[in-house]
Amino acid sequence: MGNCAGRSAKCANSSSAFASSKKSLDSINTSNSIASSKTTLTTSFKSDESSPIVSLKSFTLNELKSAARNFRSDSYLGEGGFGIVFKGWIDENSYAPTKPGVGIVVAIKKLKRESFQGHKEWLAEVTYLGQLRHKNLVKLIGYCSESDNKLLVYEYMQRGSLENHLFKRGTQQISWATRVNIAIDVAHGLSFLHNLETQVIYRDLKGSNILLDADFNAKLSDFGLARNGPTGDKTHVSTRVVGTRGYAAPEYVATGHLSVKSDIYSFGVVLLELLSGRRALDDGRGAAEESLVDWAIPFLDDKRRMLRIMDTRLEGCYSKKGAQSIAALALECLQDDPRNRPNMNEVLATLEQFRVPTKEQTNYQNFPSEGR
Ligand SMILES: Nc1ncnc2c1ncn2[C@@H]1O[C@H](COP(=O)(O)OP(=O)(O)OP(=O)(O)O)[C@@H](O)[C@H]1O
Ligand SMILES: [Mg+2]
Repeated sequence: MGNCAGRSAKCANSSSAFASSKKSLDSINTSNSIASSKTTLTTSFKSDESSPIVSLKSFTLNELKSAARNFRSDSYLGEGGFGIVFKGWIDENSYAPTKPGVGIVVAIKKLKRESFQGHKEWLAEVTYLGQLRHKNLVKLIGYCSESDNKLLVYEYMQRGSLENHLFKRGTQQISWATRVNIAIDVAHGLSFLHNLETQVIYRDLKGSNILLDADFNAKLSDFGLARNGPTGDKTHVSTRVVGTRGYAAPEYVATGHLSVKSDIYSFGVVLLELLSGRRALDDGRGAAEESLVDWAIPFLDDKRRMLRIMDTRLEGCYSKKGAQSIAALALECLQDDPRNRPNMNEVLATLEQFRVPTKEQTNYQNFPSEGR
């Protein structure tokens, strides 16, 4: 240890993210079975033991209005490209709406009605998160689809997004140990997706999609852009380029060739954000420092110079050796040639060496979170 105890813009351009996706996705897409369903949906993704096929609750719009107090402004949690997220309350067994303070808290995401792309993302979210369960993926509880009203109901993540904690004033600073553990949690989530029999590429890894529970355990949210990986001996799938500037891998942006190695690149960017406390893209910093990757890379392969990128808000409270190793790992993840990037299992093996018990986790141990 040391000496003491803009939002990014989304990019999009070419063929549908669903164009060549697997049968389970296509059948849901074409038959529109979710859109017309009033009953509980059971999806049929091939998954392993840690992701049993699960059922989702189909909510009516009135139920969700009632759970989120008519989507009043005091239920507001945040807003993204898809729409607004509200806090709501439901009964933990029946999932019926309850009064605030009764039952369990949920996060209800309401699609902007005019968003066509949002409908596709909504469907992808239901399809993927409806079938995948892992302690480092946010749990999708249910959905609502009544004509143009598309909503999603998630487990509530009490501490919001990693982006908020790293970059927004007035939020609790996160310690070195917590940052390392967040990186490990994210790596576990990605490794789970990459190792599924039908491999899943997450495609939109960034600070705002990493949510933190009461104990600062991290989970991946937003599967709207996720898609199935290549099959057989193919190394990539060809798709239109969607994702977020500053995080998307260069070969993917240039050619639309998507592989799990695109997620590895984005993971490298998130590692840099955790080390430096700087945004992937920050137009307030001037041309030389606008892109975190371009600015940081020259520092990363030198153990001493590397320390110059460290977040000053950590006030030197971090393990030098850990920081140097994680910087070296970030550099590997950020290689231009995807073949030179490590896979997620290798990333995890490196990171696990630096896991440490955290002060935050000790402080908040009275709020146990599900699945840990
Ligand atoms: N399950 C949740 N629990 C608690 N807060 C949440 C949850 N999901 C989202 N939020 C809050 O709502 C905000 C908006 O989330 P949303 O996923 O819609 O957009 P985003 O990730 O910020 O942007 P983008 O549309 O580019 O993904 C998040 O930053 C977070 O603060
Ligand atoms: Mg998001």
